[in-house]
Amino acid sequence: MSDQRLPSVDELDVSGKRVLVRCDLNVPLNDGVIGDDMRIRAALPTLRALLDKGARLVVCSHLGRPQGRVDEGLRLAPVGARLSELLEREMTIVADVVGAEAVEACASDAEVVLLENLRFEPGEEANDPDFVGALSSLADAYVNDAFGASHRAHASIVGPPGRLPSAAGHLLHDEVAKLERLLHEPDRPYVAVLGGAKVSDKLDVIGNLLDRVDAICIGGAMAFTLLVAQGSDVGRSLVEDDRVDDVRGMLARAEDEGVAIHLPTDVVAAQEEGSPHETVALADIGDRMGVDIGPTTIGEFAQTIIGARTVLWNGPMGIFEIADYSAGTLAIATAIAEATAEGAFTVAGGGDSAAALKSFDMTGAVSHLSTGGGASLEFLEGKDLPGVTALSKATDTKKGRA
Ligand code: 3PG
Ligand code: MG
Repeated sequence: MSDQRLPSVDELDVSGKRVLVRCDLNVPLNDGVIGDDMRIRAALPTLRALLDKGARLVVCSHLGRPQGRVDEGLRLAPVGARLSELLEREMTIVADVVGAEAVEACASDAEVVLLENLRFEPGEEANDPDFVGALSSLADAYVNDAFGASHRAHASIVGPPGRLPSAAGHLLHDEVAKLERLLHEPDRPYVAVLGGAKVSDKLDVIGNLLDRVDAICIGGAMAFTLLVAQGSDVGRSLVEDDRVDDVRGMLARAEDEGVAIHLPTDVVAAQEEGSPHETVALADIGDRMGVDIGPTTIGEFAQTIIGARTVLWNGPMGIFEIADYSAGTLAIATAIAEATAEGAFTVAGGGDSAAALKSFDMTGAVSHLSTGGGASLEFLEGKDLPGVTALSKATDTKKGRA
């Protein structure tokens, strides 16, 4: 999928028009308090550009997974309040998605309307044509800027491009361009650093990267399934037994491709999450489980990262939310920051990597911090994202051009 085919918001004729903008404002929310507003901030450039061109906006997003029903805890009002503050504009926040209140607000002069949580409507996830029709009828043009949700073939993502002049927002465009750099002619050496709990979530990404990267450093609980596949004893560490054969096949392919796979040789070991810990060689793990990578492993991973010209990072090296088990993830973030400072192109994707960088106050450590978790993984797996495909088709038919 080439971003060349994505119609740009800059070419869309929006002056005096009402533009439906699909954003991914799915932020962590606790009792109405926003945990991290990165996705709201990331939506601002496109919204500002459209307002500057004289458009009136109808902004929409999902929040959480309410499964087609109204969930009072997942109303978009707190998100709208923050968006209004950051955008420095009045916002008309309506309490329905395509009902009478939404229709009336969109027909009014209101400069910015925010629709209620799209997933309160069963038609959103079902990609119901009637719902697509109702949503599209609220506006004269459509912009998709929801990179983080563009792997979902949901109504608000794939429907409007078939009905309205459509374009990709700046965030969607930028994410696609940055992630494409990781798949096409990356500067070498190219190192992938992968972590997180489950190897099953990452096997397709590894499969697509094996003929591109020079080395892969693997930490987090997912490393233990690889270590078991190599015949190591990993104590009571998390292992996906049903994936050991797949992993053996992947390791054999890595050897054929000449890709170095770096795995932990020492770990922080504990009886259970939160109990006292000790750093040991992997061979001495006994009946404990690994909760972070150890200093020898950190040294090896860091050396590989610092020598790279391109780095992709997805997933923490241990249970970084617990301070005692965060040293590995912090050291990897620090090594990536050093590579970035040396001019390497570095990308972090996935909600946990973003949360880790944020908790270390290091969001500036990478060249690009993706707003997408599942979406960035699917992109790097080599899959076409439904939201990107829908916009590309709109371009092919010259729909969506000014
Ligand atoms: C995300 O947070 O991954 C996106 O907003 C998509 O949400 P979803 O995984 O619930 O579809
Ligand atoms: Mg997700």
